[in-house]
Amino acid sequence: MKINFEKSFNLDSDNKGVLIVSAYDENVLSTGAQAVDVQTQGMIRRAIESSSFKGKKDEILSVMCPHNISFSQLIVIGLGKKEDLSLKGLEENGAKAMSVLMKSALSSVTFDISDDKICPIGVAYFASGMDLRSWKFDKYKTVDVNSSKGPSSITAITPDVALSEATFARRFAVNEGNRLTRHVVSEPPNVLYPKSMAAQAKELEALGVKVEILGEEEMKKLGMNALLGVGQGSQFESQLIVMNWNGGDSNQTPLAIVGKGVTFDSGGISIKPSANMEDMKYDMGGSGVVLGLMKALALRKAKANVVGVMGMVENMPSGTAQRPADVVKSMSGQTIEVINTDAEGRLVLADALWYTQDRFKPSEMINLATLTGAITVALGYEYAGLFSNNDQLAERLFSVGGDVGEPVWRFPMGKQYDRDIDSDIADVKNVGSGRGAGSITAAQFLQRFVNNVPWAHLDIAGMAWDKKDKPLTGKGATGFGVRLLDAFIEKHYEN
Ligand code: BES
Ligand code: ZN
Ligand code: ZN
Repeated sequence: MKINFEKSFNLDSDNKGVLIVSAYDENVLSTGAQAVDVQTQGMIRRAIESSSFKGKKDEILSVMCPHNISFSQLIVIGLGKKEDLSLKGLEENGAKAMSVLMKSALSSVTFDISDDKICPIGVAYFASGMDLRSWKFDKYKTVDVNSSKGPSSITAITPDVALSEATFARRFAVNEGNRLTRHVVSEPPNVLYPKSMAAQAKELEALGVKVEILGEEEMKKLGMNALLGVGQGSQFESQLIVMNWNGGDSNQTPLAIVGKGVTFDSGGISIKPSANMEDMKYDMGGSGVVLGLMKALALRKAKANVVGVMGMVENMPSGTAQRPADVVKSMSGQTIEVINTDAEGRLVLADALWYTQDRFKPSEMINLATLTGAITVALGYEYAGLFSNNDQLAERLFSVGGDVGEPVWRFPMGKQYDRDIDSDIADVKNVGSGRGAGSITAAQFLQRFVNNVPWAHLDIAGMAWDKKDKPLTGKGATGFGVRLLDAFIEKHYEN
């Protein structure tokens, strides 16, 4: 969304849109709101007095304006206590305002939250929240398409136009990446399958990302039978998508990000129950984050070298599908007994992770996967599971996750759990013998394919999609992970 930053606005100008101002806890009006209140003979004060509005964070008071004011509607947004203000909080405020505006028919919006406590950077974060929340997935709607499009023009009032613009541009790049992730995750599985995902990746070439696509022939030659076995029941050809963003020094070893990309997980021969099976279109959420992240890095010209790898397959039952009891030989040479064809993500990642470390020798490797239902039993829909063979890497991810509002929680790993996946006839089996610790045994499985590279696995099964309204992203695909990894790269790979 295009946002114009300007130093001031005029209440008398010919504007028929929405004006947004702000108030703090206990109804302390910000400077901008006070000015409007004075010019309107106390309209804001009167509106507040006749309502239950208290200025608490994300509270909204909406007033229709009288005819002598050029705006049609005034919205007061609560920013909460002054001492609790943060950039993240302001971004959420902006998103909250946009969630209201998305239901409005008015197309032009001006916001003025200016105050001594709010710097031009804060204004840009508020604008970023509006931008992030303005996305929606309505490409398949053919009726009622225009009923709520959201605003088409936004003017932000700031004391320093240049600083706000520069800050917003940086946020906008990440928002664009997040939107691309949400887009591919929202697409139905008859539209988004391995090759169409490859086509999405190819589009990033225009931004300077190098993109290579490996088809089934090439993967066969490399011995990637674990990945290929998952896709062998599908009409769609499996793909390994390899992207490189080289914005850092040529001698800097890259960071590698690897994503599970199961474009539909029916369970395969170990077929899933039909209730909620449609959710399994988002089983490519990990790969979606890798794609969106690469776009964000390219748009903001990140000074880092990052490899993004996506293992794309569709898991279907058919006469050619993999069976429970099959044994496959992975690219690493380790053999895997497939006990349950629904534990397919780890099979895809086994080869994608091995390939990535073998070819790129990354300094660190992070994978994202909607890997286990068990992670939602443990953490619900509030944290992603974090598993790592490296304390320092885990600490850094934990800390950045808290900063950007994409929190992760670390789980233990260890030999005790590893024994659970030893197979009687092969090197490893794809599910644990015991019933418990399903997310940990899955992580133990992955660890056997990282060759001791510092590695972290984010189980985002509970985070890639939300049935409830999330402050920044609403319902549906969240893009969880793009902001986290973007900030992680900025903090630890660029300087
Ligand atoms: N894609 C699922 C995990 C999942 C569940 C993602 C819910 C998002 C929401 C994964 O492939 C799977 O089916 N895992 C099984 C593992 C089991 C067979 C050991 C599970 O979680 O039940
Ligand atoms: Zn599965
Ligand atoms: Zn899956």
